[in-house]
Amino acid sequence: MSGGDKLDFEIRPNPAPVSAADRAALLVNPGFGRIFTDHMVTIRYADGKGWYDARVEARAPIPMDPAAAVLHYAQEIFEGMKAYRTADGGVNLFRPEANAARFGVSAQRMAMPVLPPETFVDSLRRLVEIDRDWIPTDPDGSLYLRPFMFASEVFLGVRPANEYLYVAIASPVGAYFSGGVKPVSVWATPEYTRAAPGGTGAAKCGGNYAASLVAQAEAIEHGCDQVVFLDAVERRYVDELGGMNVFFVYDDGSVVTPPLTGTILPGIIRESVLTLAAESGHRVQERPVSFEDWQADAESGRLREVFACGTAAVVTPIGQVKSPAGEFLIGGGEPGRVTMALRQQLVDIQRGDAPDPHGWVTRLF
Ligand code: COI
Repeated sequence: MSGGDKLDFEIRPNPAPVSAADRAALLVNPGFGRIFTDHMVTIRYADGKGWYDARVEARAPIPMDPAAAVLHYAQEIFEGMKAYRTADGGVNLFRPEANAARFGVSAQRMAMPVLPPETFVDSLRRLVEIDRDWIPTDPDGSLYLRPFMFASEVFLGVRPANEYLYVAIASPVGAYFSGGVKPVSVWATPEYTRAAPGGTGAAKCGGNYAASLVAQAEAIEHGCDQVVFLDAVERRYVDELGGMNVFFVYDDGSVVTPPLTGTILPGIIRESVLTLAAESGHRVQERPVSFEDWQADAESGRLREVFACGTAAVVTPIGQVKSPAGEFLIGGGEPGRVTMALRQQLVDIQRGDAPDPHGWVTRLF
């Protein structure tokens, strides 16, 4: 594809899709990221040639040369988004152009080519269209879309690759946390940080998540659901969780989240929650929150609620915080009123059950 040309997709339907009966059985309790639909999208890129060979095809293993650059230097980025079934049987995407834009920013940070945003959105539209029977109909279910791109060039030199593969897959999901929308517990790791200034913290690259896994394992050892990272410079200010942003709600109704200083993922749900909270009359602030203040304000009762948010987590209350210095509860460990109201407002817009004044929803069908 040369600049400005629209990429055409070749559609090769899966000759052996999962039967309707087997699909229905899989959709009863899909969990998160365990089951996958019949198709995937693939698009190739080569320097000098641009984007080519766009396909919708049967989901299948991807043959990889052992010297493919991604396997050695982790040049990989991804996105997470969801397709929602609406009450009238339609299908919505939530802010897909924002995911497309962030995918482009992540690509630039990782020295990768930028997939045109309209091709990104078109690829997901086509995937959802062919696999629409996989979208759960229950109100907590959705079809999680995972577009990603990696360096496929067969080369061991350390430089940006000159060949890439873009892939999009889809997975019917329920709640990200196995307990559903119950308050989760977080472990403030004393040892590990997520990203340093100048690093890749603002990019959605696989390496950030790989680096979080040992800290996440530490959180689980301490009986927590998620890890929370403090900043890499002072080890004092809250950055984000292993895969979601974090918000604080105070007794004066103010809603606070750490600022985007380059070490935090600019979450699309984070930005949407800031907008919804401001519109609901809350004073919203993007400012640093120290761990010390988090604990002191929770203990004094000034801090009423804390929640995590992201595409996968939606808005999930945080009820308990543990660190080597001890542990404390937020709001008595119960879900907060503001948290649950923001969650409902967001979900209602995503599912087409509430007006969409910001034009966040793309109705696919
Ligand atoms: C998402 O929320 O979509 C993510 O990519 C985070 C991951 C924890 C699933």
